[in-house]
Amino acid sequence: MNKRETWKTKVGLILAAAGNAVGLGNILRFPSKVALYGGGAFMLPYFIALFLMGLPLMIIEWVIGRYAGRYGHGSMTGILGLFFKHASWARILGSVGVAIPVCICMYYIYIESWTLGFAFLSVLQKLPQPVISTDAHEAAKPYIDFFRNYTSPSATAYLFLILTLCINWFILQRGVVKGIEITAKIGMPLLILFGIFLSFLCLSAKNWTGFEGLKFIYNLNFSGITDPKIWVEAAGQIFFTLSLGMGAIATYASYVRQREDIVKAGFITAGINEFVEVIIGASIVIPAAFAMFSAIAIPELAKEGTFRIGFMTMPAIFMSFPVGWFISFVWFSLLFLAALTSSLALIQPLVALFEDEMKWSHTKAVTVSMILITVGAHFSAFIPHFIDELDFWSGCVFLLLFGLVEIVVFVWIFGINNFYNELTTYTKIRLPKAFVYTVAFVSPLFIAFVVYFWVIKELKNTLFTTDPYKIFARVFILLILVLLGFIAVKSRKIILKDVRYLRVIKE
Ligand code: ALA
Repeated sequence: MNKRETWKTKVGLILAAAGNAVGLGNILRFPSKVALYGGGAFMLPYFIALFLMGLPLMIIEWVIGRYAGRYGHGSMTGILGLFFKHASWARILGSVGVAIPVCICMYYIYIESWTLGFAFLSVLQKLPQPVISTDAHEAAKPYIDFFRNYTSPSATAYLFLILTLCINWFILQRGVVKGIEITAKIGMPLLILFGIFLSFLCLSAKNWTGFEGLKFIYNLNFSGITDPKIWVEAAGQIFFTLSLGMGAIATYASYVRQREDIVKAGFITAGINEFVEVIIGASIVIPAAFAMFSAIAIPELAKEGTFRIGFMTMPAIFMSFPVGWFISFVWFSLLFLAALTSSLALIQPLVALFEDEMKWSHTKAVTVSMILITVGAHFSAFIPHFIDELDFWSGCVFLLLFGLVEIVVFVWIFGINNFYNELTTYTKIRLPKAFVYTVAFVSPLFIAFVVYFWVIKELKNTLFTTDPYKIFARVFILLILVLLGFIAVKSRKIILKDVRYLRVIKE
């Protein structure tokens, strides 16, 4: 059995876990959703989803991750298998939890490469010159054309994609401690520093007009409470931003020492993520857009798409500031750091699958994982609609469904008492048993409600397509599922043969 690594320091563990959660979801996806769904009207369902579903699932993934790490499993294939004596069906079901982060990473890493490319182009002062206008679309026009050209994809975009893939490869090859932990220790403080700097800049823009944007977000009101679409979007955002239902948190948790206080770690991870989302994320994009354009422009800009706002509107705004190239550089560096620490976390479940279940060497596991991600990233770059299809299926539908599977297996099947015992072992914060009942009954009801509205209602409109590109993307997702399912069954024999493993099970 390969010796599994453990996080070297408590700070490193917390920063790595926070880096796992904090990503493009906090800085780009969140403000876009808030703008689209009425500011304060979105925030109430958002906070309710955070407390009823987000925090409980975060704790589940930490508890289960530490538990499974004890038996040498870090990927959902092995973790789910562990609860059913490694029955093939359980391992296949678990492999969906590996396919999700893999598919997300295949487009996420391409977007990450744009942030790196745009950071370099900002320094080289190659971004278009600003058009000073109060009309958001007129001001953004040169940047829209530039972005379209860049992502066509241009040779520069391709170069930065390869560079981004190499950076991820290099860090993962160095391992959990020397690679991921060190990256998080450097990246996360820088990210928070850049975030605070940009927040201050955007809020104070045009004589603190930016503050109006913050007021728009925090004008909490009940107008969205009866709109199922807002609930669905708020819940989806919580899943995405906290990296829940992806198995990514559980994989990181599997590398903790057995005496680690996972409840504390879970709450701190969620706390840092929410700080970066509802304080820093809320204080950049929307306040900047408020200051430069009118309030009416905000939902209009958000309609352009989740990521466009970051690559078209924001450079248009920042480049019109004094030393615009530098501010634009800080902005794209912030996005890159956020994306990098998350993409590492999205690939690690696959690396863990190969290492823990197939017993491959670290180098072989990282190499094969990165080859797979590289293939998918190329499809994201060259096949139209590939990103959107992967985002819809793996970044939305599968996340919710797998979240439900996690609760059923890890709380119901494991048993409320077993789960509670594991939850309260080596933890200073003794959560009341009522917390476990909330996790067991309220959270799944909440998710079921969301699944009903999202999957059942939205699915009808999206399921049927004749678009060959979309069909290609779906077939590709299916192939990934089949491949990982096959690995789940094949590795089962290796796991069951492992004598030492069987001894641990008996004990
Ligand atoms: N949780 C990661 C993000 O917010 C995936 O981008």
